[in-house]
Amino acid sequence: MKCVLYISKALKSFTNEELELLSITSTGNNQKKDITGYLYYENKRFLQYMEGEEHIINQMVDKIAHDERHELLALIEKQDLVHRRFPEWGMKNIADLMFSNSAIETTIIQTMSIFGENHLNISERTQKELFNLMDDLSSVSLES
Ligand SMILES: Cc1cc2nc3c(=O)[nH]c(=O)nc-3n(C[C@H](O)[C@H](O)[C@H](O)COP(=O)(O)O)c2cc1C
Repeated sequence: MKCVLYISKALKSFTNEELELLSITSTGNNQKKDITGYLYYENKRFLQYMEGEEHIINQMVDKIAHDERHELLALIEKQDLVHRRFPEWGMKNIADLMFSNSAIETTIIQTMSIFGENHLNISERTQKELFNLMDDLSSVSLES
């Protein structure tokens, strides 16, 4: 399996209803493709994490990257994922989570923004730390 983590800039303001619709569409599509993950929105920034079979994830990233409602700022990916971080979530529950402003998501967004806005490569070490933060988010999600 493969996992991808990216941040993007919303090119329009998303209302709560639009975010909810996005979450419902994504959950439905992702379940059919066995993609699980996590989506978060704050201050016109999206953070999305996806995991699943490599070619399926590549296709989905390509589709999402062409969505004109946002613009990708930074993306990291890792092959050889063995255990899913969000086995239960085809982007489910995101509507609730999107509005619970969490320090972990903010840290990921701020870190990736610095690299993205300055067109810098994200070092291996930082990539590892970002995925470690996703581990933290996944353990929070398992507790709830
Ligand atoms: C930030 C963001 C995240 C998205 N995430 C997903 C996703 O996880 N799964 C998905 O199917 N579509 C996602 N989309 C929507 C796709 O870009 C596209 O609009 C949608 O898949 C089209 O669905 P359709 O082929 O059923 O018309 C996302 C869009 C945005 C802006």
